Amino acid sequence: MSAIALRQVDKIYEGGGRLVTALDHIDLDVAQGTFAAILGPSGCGKSTLLNLVAGFEAPSAGAVTVFGQTVRKPGPQRAVVFQEAALFPWLSVWDNLVFPATIAGTPKAEYEDLARELIITVGLAGFEKHWPDQLSGGMRQRVGLARALLMRPQVLLMDEPFGALDAQTRLQMQELLLSVWERYRKTIVFITHDIDEAVLLADTVHVMSARPGRMQARIDIDLPRPRSIDLLMQDRFNALRREIFSLIRGAH
Ligand SMILES: Nc1ncnc2c1ncn2[C@@H]1O[C@H](COP(=O)(O)OP(=O)(O)OP(=O)(O)O)[C@@H](O)[C@H]1O
Ligand SMILES: [Mg+2]
Repeated sequence: MSAIALRQVDKIYEGGGRLVTALDHIDLDVAQGTFAAILGPSGCGKSTLLNLVAGFEAPSAGAVTVFGQTVRKPGPQRAVVFQEAALFPWLSVWDNLVFPATIAGTPKAEYEDLARELIITVGLAGFEKHWPDQLSGGMRQRVGLARALLMRPQVLLMDEPFGALDAQTRLQMQELLLSVWERYRKTIVFITHDIDEAVLLADTVHVMSARPGRMQARIDIDLPRPRSIDLLMQDRFNALRREIFSLIRGAH
């Protein structure tokens, strides 16, 4: 059974008296504990697809299931990480991290050890008492990632989480995410329009085409794990990125 499955999913928006088909007959399978990257140009429906899996929106047709259950609303088993970490400016790093756990009424004893572990895992040891405006963009995303993991989700949904970062910080965050995946083995759906990022991180890359958003191809990434950014210089990596590049170019 797939951890995440979309079957013949359509999403049609109505706005200003006209219909926009954001997703057209989308099929997608993500196996448990694997990392799927959704790659596509701006406006092809990537965020729409993620929002359907998150349960923020309902499909116009077709079925979205997570572990065999139809998605009807957001749930703690599916954590979402956006491009901006959206931290509360009046809360410290630590208080931001544990905020969702406290409002969920989780007893401190159930999350405190994991919170400490996550602070170390994401490289924020010593910054627990800092305020968000004292952090760089990469550090804010580290808090956002730790906050998502603290809820012990089975699925991590990430919508261009590194899209606003400079190239070097982005590489650091990609390496961090690789090590987080090794450690916690969540099922991840990761939205990006960066071919290198998709190939470096994912087990499967799902290429979407624009207007209306369709699934164009699925490429299995057979690069060995554990991975590091050293892969960016290897022949197999380059062969995969070339394959995906020509797929995308062929569609235009
Ligand atoms: N709430 C909405 N109402 C009307 N149209 C919408 C709505 N949300 C998205 N759309 C349309 O659906 C299409 C897909 O949008 P979506 O945000 O999913 O694209 P995307 O691939 O995430 O783009 P980007 O890479 O720029 O983030 C676009 O044409 C967009 O204008
Ligand atoms: Mg988007």
